[in-house]
Amino acid sequence: MLENRWETFARENAEWYIYTAPDVDFTTAEGRSFFDRSGREDAAQILAEAGPRLTGRGRALEIGCGVGRLTMPVSERFTEVLAVDIAPTMLRKLADNAQRAGRDNVRGFLSHEPWDTQGPVDFVYSLIVFQHIADWSAIVEYFTRIGSCLAPGGVCWVQFDTRAVSLPYLAVSRLPDAVLPRPWRKGIRRVRRSRDRLVELFESCGLRVASELRPGERHAFLLTR
Ligand SMILES: C[S@@+](CC[C@H](N)C(=O)[O-])C[C@H]1O[C@@H](n2cnc3c(N)ncnc32)[C@H](O)[C@@H]1O
Repeated sequence: MLENRWETFARENAEWYIYTAPDVDFTTAEGRSFFDRSGREDAAQILAEAGPRLTGRGRALEIGCGVGRLTMPVSERFTEVLAVDIAPTMLRKLADNAQRAGRDNVRGFLSHEPWDTQGPVDFVYSLIVFQHIADWSAIVEYFTRIGSCLAPGGVCWVQFDTRAVSLPYLAVSRLPDAVLPRPWRKGIRRVRRSRDRLVELFESCGLRVASELRPGERHAFLLTR
């Protein structure tokens, strides 16, 4: 399955694939602090954008948590965070990071595990994840499950790349990985999605679009029940 490439990425250089910054060496203390700072800033922005509608601070759910760049700061604001990823090595690194940070309220789940039956979720969030999922049926499954566990009054903040599909984009998508630079290869490349098709999916899962921000590469949807 295509998304299993993330397991390879996680073993090779997890931080680089998570937060692609060509000039940063994430094995150094400086690189690590850049990585952590980027996570605190992104988490603060997500929480600020969801904030006015967020009522509960009990259970949060992150789809595509990686090594916990966002999970760690979010776990300071919620009773617990369910952190879902497709790559076991990401979850192992997340557990190490949580332990190092003294956070015992983070629970990791592989995608197929029962993260959606742990009780109602007050806040679902996902950044730079769905843009990498090439299989539409996997996205449908996620939103069906999110729709089933989001608490009444809960909020879902989720990002997609909704830029228009252009001819150069289509051409690059058809090229073999061997001739492409790393960020354009399968698994890590960004898959563009139609905004209208996404809204149709959300609604079919019982989720209503309360607001939208930054249409395009970092299109964020704020969903409620
Ligand atoms: C670019 S990283 C972002 C990680 C995290 N959201 C962050 O902002 O630091 C993408 C993450 O999504 C995970 N991922 C990719 N496809 C997935 C899928 N189908 N289900 C769950 N996680 C997935 C990858 O393993 C990786 O950890």
